[in-house]
Amino acid sequence: MNTTTELSFIHRIKPATEPGKPPILLLHGTGGNEDDLLPLGGMIAPGSALLSPRGKVLEGGMPRFFRRLREGIFDEEDVRRRAHELADFIAQARESYNLAAPIAVGFSNGANIAAAVLQLRPEALAGAALLRAMVPLQDPPAADLSGKPVLILSGASDPIVPADNARRLASLLQTTGATVEHRVLPTGHGLSQTDVALTKAWIDQL
Ligand code: MLT
Repeated sequence: MNTTTELSFIHRIKPATEPGKPPILLLHGTGGNEDDLLPLGGMIAPGSALLSPRGKVLEGGMPRFFRRLREGIFDEEDVRRRAHELADFIAQARESYNLAAPIAVGFSNGANIAAAVLQLRPEALAGAALLRAMVPLQDPPAADLSGKPVLILSGASDPIVPADNARRLASLLQTTGATVEHRVLPTGHGLSQTDVALTKAWIDQL
């Protein structure tokens, strides 16, 4: 495992131990860091390379991937800027570590930036598992997501993500060509064992 600051984000990289497995881009939630989702990555994608950056925006000292005005209300100019910045980092990391386009696995704020990267820079990702995601951009550009697999796992009693917001994200991505599987789990905002099992099964069949 390496930590490096040489590329444009502080990140960790865990090289693949099995050839042919898709690299995974792990994107943490608010207050997380580059270490947070590595154990999850090992569970859902054993043998895959894991690339895990730390969000550059600080909210009261808590790392995030873009600025928000308050919970659920995003600074969309910043969402756009940060999504491009993250896509540029992915390109740098792919070159430095010789990686194929990764599958993003994002939780909460990390899922929201992954959705924005899909909409703004679709070439950066091979697909995405969006855990407790919401719509990051009210008026996204018309991206072509043809053939990109997307898993959205929502919580039926999530106090942060309204059910219709997650449904709208699923439909926005589907309308632009992504192959979307959206499941609503009997849980809240936090991740459960079911999230781990479903995400692993989804990655296994890619
Ligand atoms: C966000 O700000 O991206 C969402 O409200 C989720 C969160 O990080 O709390």
